[in-house]
Amino acid sequence: MSYNSIITHLENGVFTITINRPDKMNALNAEVIGELGTAIEEVYKNRDIRVAIITGAGPKAFIAGADISEFTSLNSTGGADLGKRGQDLVFSRVEKSEKPFIAAVNGFALGGGCELALSCHFRLASENAKFGLPEVNLGLMPGYGGTQRLAQLVGKGRAMEMVLTGNMISATDAFQFGLVNHVVPADTVLSKATELAAQIAQKAPIAVRNIMRMVNVAASASSSALDMEIKSFGELFDTADAKEGVAAFLEKRKAVFAGK
Ligand code: COA
Repeated sequence: MSYNSIITHLENGVFTITINRPDKMNALNAEVIGELGTAIEEVYKNRDIRVAIITGAGPKAFIAGADISEFTSLNSTGGADLGKRGQDLVFSRVEKSEKPFIAAVNGFALGGGCELALSCHFRLASENAKFGLPEVNLGLMPGYGGTQRLAQLVGKGRAMEMVLTGNMISATDAFQFGLVNHVVPADTVLSKATELAAQIAQKAPIAVRNIMRMVNVAASASSSALDMEIKSFGELFDTADAKEGVAAFLEKRKAVFAGK
């Protein structure tokens, strides 16, 4: 399969998916979401794939969120459709996969990038990684499961602080919060993820599948809560604040919110 905005590589049962838009901080535009959906389908269907890793190209970003330049013309219906398409093709499918997905977070993991890492079954971070859900700075909110999956992983209080302030946390804080399992030097995050993936790839696939099913029963986002999040996310696109927040980001200025 050949792609335009992602790169895939299969070796010894480990399938590595690299989002490849480093000049845009690997932001998730419609094409990336579509290609990720196809790559995830490959993980589901290809029996040679035992474990998948998701990472970002370049030294700065894992993924700096959804592509904000695609937000300018969205209303509530378009916003909800964006959230639903992402959840259906990518985020929920990663979470529900019966083969493990590991996030190798090699820099900024913001918004949808943080949410994609949260959908993975566990996460490693480079020392320079930063995590955050800054949608509130745009007059918006997480729409790819962040309100649900972050709280499950780090607890309600820490999740509330992160989504309400939009502040980023360091890799060390992410480790202390239980958001990532390992923090490693920047140039080793993919090799460390590959090492762990290779270990899992040696295990009995049916046992891995049943274990994944059961851990997901214990802890995964409820689909009705995710649907509510998509609706709330969509609604915000009809507000003047969201238009101001998106315009301010694109014009590289601070947003002024009027509560409308
Ligand atoms: N959507 C679209 N473009 C994005 C983007 C996003 N989420 N994140 C970064 N970019 C683009 C920038 O607009 C810039 O493009 P340009 O070179 O054409 O001007 C390029 O990527 C580099 O980003 P820049 O902001 O110049 O880099 P930086 O090192 O100063 O800051 C970040 C890096 C990640 C802190 C900053 O880009 C940022 O805050 N991004 C948005 C994060 C966000 O709000 N995500 C949630 C979206 S819902």
